[in-house]
Amino acid sequence: MPILFHPQNRTFHLYNDRLSYIFKVLPSGHLGQLYCGRALHDRPDFDRLFETAPRAMAACSFEADTAYSLEHIRQEYPVCGPGDVRLPALDACMPDGSRLLDLQYQGHTVAPGKPPIQGLPATYTEQDDEADTLTVTLADPLAGVTVRLFYTIFARLPALARHAEICCTAPIELDRAMSLCLDLPDSDYEMVELTGAWARERHLTTRPLAEGVQAVYSLRGHSSHQFNPFLALKRPDCGEMQGEVLGFSLVYSGNFLAQADVDPYHVTRVTMGIHPQNFRWKLDPGQTFATPEAVLVYSDRGLNGMSQTYHTLYRSRLARGRWRDAVRPVLVNNWEATYFDFNEEKLLSLAAGAKALGVELFVLDDGWFRNRSSDETGLGDWQVDTAKLPGGLKGFGEKLGALGLQFGLWIEPEMVSPGTRLWQDHPDWVLHQPGRRPLPSRHQYVLDLSNPAVGDYLYDRLTALLDGVPVSYIKWDMNRSISDAFSCAAGPDRQGQVLHRYILGVYRLYERLTARFPGILFESCASGGARFDPGMLYYAPQAWTSDDTDAVERLKIQYGTSLVYPVSSMGAHVAAVPNHQLGRVTSLTTRANVAFFGAFGYEMDLTRLPPRGRELVARQVAFFKQYRPLLQFGTFWRLQSPFTHNEAAWMTVSPGRDTALVGDYLILQQANAGYRRVRLAGLDPDRLYRVTPLGSGAEPCGPAYTAGGDELMQAGLVTTGDSRMQQDGDFVSRLYLLQAVTE
Ligand code: DGJ
Repeated sequence: MPILFHPQNRTFHLYNDRLSYIFKVLPSGHLGQLYCGRALHDRPDFDRLFETAPRAMAACSFEADTAYSLEHIRQEYPVCGPGDVRLPALDACMPDGSRLLDLQYQGHTVAPGKPPIQGLPATYTEQDDEADTLTVTLADPLAGVTVRLFYTIFARLPALARHAEICCTAPIELDRAMSLCLDLPDSDYEMVELTGAWARERHLTTRPLAEGVQAVYSLRGHSSHQFNPFLALKRPDCGEMQGEVLGFSLVYSGNFLAQADVDPYHVTRVTMGIHPQNFRWKLDPGQTFATPEAVLVYSDRGLNGMSQTYHTLYRSRLARGRWRDAVRPVLVNNWEATYFDFNEEKLLSLAAGAKALGVELFVLDDGWFRNRSSDETGLGDWQVDTAKLPGGLKGFGEKLGALGLQFGLWIEPEMVSPGTRLWQDHPDWVLHQPGRRPLPSRHQYVLDLSNPAVGDYLYDRLTALLDGVPVSYIKWDMNRSISDAFSCAAGPDRQGQVLHRYILGVYRLYERLTARFPGILFESCASGGARFDPGMLYYAPQAWTSDDTDAVERLKIQYGTSLVYPVSSMGAHVAAVPNHQLGRVTSLTTRANVAFFGAFGYEMDLTRLPPRGRELVARQVAFFKQYRPLLQFGTFWRLQSPFTHNEAAWMTVSPGRDTALVGDYLILQQANAGYRRVRLAGLDPDRLYRVTPLGSGAEPCGPAYTAGGDELMQAGLVTTGDSRMQQDGDFVSRLYLLQAVTE
């Protein structure tokens, strides 16, 4: 049992063989944080780790102990009231206007497994021995507030999931209810975050921690292109392969806050949860408010170690459904091939061309419904445009079926365009404040998913649309931020709930549709990657990574995304050149060599390729099919960062360490360049590997040779002298196939 409680000093020790998390009930009844990091042997006493010091002006818990101030004690779930004047985990307003809370330990339970969080996505267990959950109850009888803190430690991963549930005996208003708070004893860390914008999402950014608050957040109603609901604190000497790092990831798709607050004594307080801005939750007696889940990961094996834990957990115990463990179909998407300008004949010609090259699924993107010849109209009614698809979706799906292709369909259920029937019939279903003009973005408005009637309409409409249609994939898009978050269906005391209820409404709709259509593979999307977050992965095991399909840009985007998210979750397509976002020209080989490390597909008119190009694509598709379990579900290692180098490299290794694929990329060519080796990772040092360089259609090229796993990891894979690195211009790449051999 990896959760122990030592009653004599009321200390909790949650541990497995890689992680220890220790806290205790303090003499004042509050919870004090003692340790979070590499696994420690359990001992009856960790009280030495509880530190106090007398400090000027601090409010003390006991008259006789001038050092005992919660302002300076590391805690588990701090509140305003009993002396702590730092940013709290919980802030509530009581009926008398007080914000003073004093939450003290009441008791705890330990249970095998992990309970779900009602209405919210969360990691889960399939067998009770996969994890244990500690629930600690804190209460303030005067305020009538009870908080239950949930801690799940996974048996085989250095990961801890946390969330809080709050209830009350008199009505209160929650203004801040964080999922996780962790006080660390020092600030010798760098904060790693994923930052960006549309078409350059999840770039890896690192900054040293400094005194004061440093934060990433979203106030856009979705998790956003700009920041991801994630931060990591790494020791300055931590790199990809070695060193210590703590990751924090929020399983949530709406407004979030993730911050590190360093005090003048270098104590670092990490908090993570729903952003308090625009959040006010009126809680009545008998009701419970559950925060989203935050997942803490510890690694002493560098950033790769942290990422691999997230990959394993999120791929296998956050994603759900039939597609969780299934290899994903090779798809072609018509968006960049046609945009809105298509008819059935054109689509079928694209589809037939793709099928001939081995593609398995055709995705019909935006523009298939009435009044949708541009992005200015049409969203909301979801009636098929029979001028474009005379046989409707069913007829089109059947024609694809006759070609031997599965049918994928784009939808954007959360939006409405002006002029549609829905817009006219239900102006009150649009998020906006009556008396003010709703604010357009991409010419569209956001439906009020906080109102269950809207969710019901969408469920009925989409069910009617999909019933009887041979659809096997849905791309669920969301193309604007939420600016005017006011619900016509909510009273004044519920407006502060709208943004959270909106996300709960999205989750509910996803839950109902995925339950109704369990065979459909859902891919989430938000103007590219604005909702690439763990919350979405619970419903849709893959997401469209970015609208930027340029292979060189994708190196950074996929490298950054892989910090938290598994390769199997990253939609990655080969697109036409010149690239539509940048105008850059890269080879078909490099475009595929980047996209192979993702949920692979094409986003171009393959019929327009010359015969040699089509031949290459056919070989790429065949190669991907052969190696897709390895590419999608192998252990992914980042080897060289495009954020700091002119080269990038990564690899994936099969579970038995007998096969691996390395992707090596050179961004700009250099004349008379130096030698180059890539140190590999994750191989068996005691085995020999046959190393085969792969050429433009991913077919073997150049002489294969045999080298030890130890040599490849320690001395490196020598890529010097590889002609393509010297003569083939910019943006070149090569894959290497490694297969264990017996001597
Ligand atoms: C944004 C998505 O990211 C694109 O892939 C495409 O589906 C468009 N929306 C369609 O409007």
